[in-house]
Amino acid sequence: MMRAAVLAGVGSCLPACAVSNEDLAKRLETSDEWIRSRTGIRQRYFAEPGTATSDLAAGAGVRALKSAGLSAVDLVVLATTTPDRPCPATAPTVASLLGLPGVAAFDVSAVCSGFLYALAAAAGLIATGGYATALVIGSETFSTILDPSDRTTMVIFGDGAGAVVLRAGTPDEPGALESFDLGSDGDGRDLITVRAGGSEQRLSGRQPQAGDAYFAMAGREVFWRAVQRMRESARSALDRAGRVPGDVDRLVCHQANLRILKALAHELGIAPERCVGNIAEVGNTAAASIPLALDHAHAAGRIAAGERLLLTAFGGGLTWGSAVLTWPQLPIG
Ligand code: ACO
Repeated sequence: MMRAAVLAGVGSCLPACAVSNEDLAKRLETSDEWIRSRTGIRQRYFAEPGTATSDLAAGAGVRALKSAGLSAVDLVVLATTTPDRPCPATAPTVASLLGLPGVAAFDVSAVCSGFLYALAAAAGLIATGGYATALVIGSETFSTILDPSDRTTMVIFGDGAGAVVLRAGTPDEPGALESFDLGSDGDGRDLITVRAGGSEQRLSGRQPQAGDAYFAMAGREVFWRAVQRMRESARSALDRAGRVPGDVDRLVCHQANLRILKALAHELGIAPERCVGNIAEVGNTAAASIPLALDHAHAAGRIAAGERLLLTAFGGGLTWGSAVLTWPQLPIG
């Protein structure tokens, strides 16, 4: 029998501080009505000073390990847009916080598609026999790169972390990852970006502009690309698994915008009641979004063992990705 990566645990972690739309409307020219109707978001969480991406990642990791009934893994892959530092990677810090000395640990940078890239990398390392268990985490303190005066991004993004445990198993087991699709288009790098802080601007000789240190997104231009790329990627992952949209019990999209999610489900021919998400409660948490949505849906009993899941994401890079799997029997809480 072929070897496959099997999902064996899930967990998440949110900062203590929830920030409502009304809270933001006190500081910015916006309203609860605009945010809800344009994005579906009611609130998001912002990490307190002193809480780093690695802290949230470790919190999610502890819960995912507990859910898998494991105390250790031999690989940690962290997807994040907001690493603790530009150098070194944050995954080794997370491994240390989790008491996993000596394990392989690396970061993946693909913005909102990061978790699916990380999942594919870890699943590949398990399937080829090099590793037996892996912790795959998406974690963000996105609030640290938002321009506090930019209403177009402040209302959308939030902080949090989600994690899954993968273990070596067989393709016919519940939890087995059936297929992936990943893609990118670097020509769109300016549409979702932080311009400063990298080699490009440092080597250009020009003085950095104040706003360049902040995250910027051309939301309107990205909207339909997100729908189109996720639709094509989702179909391609389903094709590779020998499946069609009718085989999907639950669609779990990157929680970018409720309107995008509805448009995507419609274009794929997947009924709205088969879509699982938590954007209203946590906003867009970038690389953390899919594992956070998985953990919340699992805890709420909105995903059942044996159901076939289609995961799909789109983000900066531009990047996109999809995965198909069945949900395993996991403890709740
Ligand atoms: N409050 C009130 N008004 C606002 C706000 C706000 N927070 N933000 C923008 N507006 C205004 C705009 O100024 C604009 O006014 P104008 O018509 O006078 O110019 C009007 O509202 C409409 O603005 P749009 O940008 O057209 O609003 P839209 O309906 O497109 O919603 C949004 C914006 C939510 C960003 C949407 O475009 C979106 O979700 N885009 C896709 C995001 C995405 O998928 N990104 C990729 C993944 S995320 C990642 O990779 C990090």
